[in-house]
Amino acid sequence: MAESILQLEAVVAGYGPTTVLNGLSFEMAAQERLAMVGRNGVGKTTALRAIMGLVPLRSGRVRFNGQDVSALAPHQRAALGLGYVPQTRDIFPSLTVEENLLAGLKRRSRSALDEAYALFPRLAERRRNGGAQLSGGEQQMLSVARALLGQPSLLLLDEPLEGLAPLIRLELLNAFRNLSQQTGIAVVIVEQQVDEALGYAERALVLDHGIVVHSGGAAALLDDPDTLERWVGMAVH
Ligand SMILES: Nc1ncnc2c1ncn2[C@@H]1O[C@H](COP(=O)(O)OP(=O)(O)O)[C@@H](O)[C@H]1O
Ligand SMILES: [Mg+2]
Repeated sequence: MAESILQLEAVVAGYGPTTVLNGLSFEMAAQERLAMVGRNGVGKTTALRAIMGLVPLRSGRVRFNGQDVSALAPHQRAALGLGYVPQTRDIFPSLTVEENLLAGLKRRSRSALDEAYALFPRLAERRRNGGAQLSGGEQQMLSVARALLGQPSLLLLDEPLEGLAPLIRLELLNAFRNLSQQTGIAVVIVEQQVDEALGYAERALVLDHGIVVHSGGAAALLDDPDTLERWVGMAVH
């Protein structure tokens, strides 16, 4: 594998008495686009949260750019270049689009806003609109744009297409493609929209009971209805 950006080594994590990740291991190359799929409740969100430091590890290790980050707090991991867009859109509804973006700027200059607006022209049109006035798709764009202002080298996207109309999903996926091409940022995308996620990603992991049960090329998985039906429970259209 090319230079590795992320390694999970036998990660065990969960909530209270429940163990969700049962020794999750996988590795990702720099600039890679990885889709993570699997049935509801198999631990996809928990895996992203464990990478980000939002759920403590009971055992195992998370390495980012070779560094063991297992004991670091989420903001420390963010400072190293991890970006996270949670499943619930993480915006301030009472602030405008621009104010939401400014809140994500930290020490960067305002010109970084132009990059966000170039990626999502819709946000530029709506820069004075309140967060609560945005459509679901626009809120999702804002949530992604804000994470990008932290200049991550690895972006974790938790069901970014959820609840969005097909045309808006297409618009978001196009933005993700442009982002990958222009910046070489590595992306983990968790999706129930399996066909769309596999169309975007290069490689795919299938999770079940908190471990990887299938790993391979995204296009190959798209062409493998048996594996999809068995582990994802979903016919691809
Ligand atoms: N905060 C929580 N407290 C207790 N159990 C949780 C919590 N979050 C998730 N779970 C449980 O952990 C399991 C895995 O959840 P999750 O990682 O969200 O799965 P996925 O994202 O693949 O649907 C599920 O059984 C879920 O009910
Ligand atoms: Mg989830």
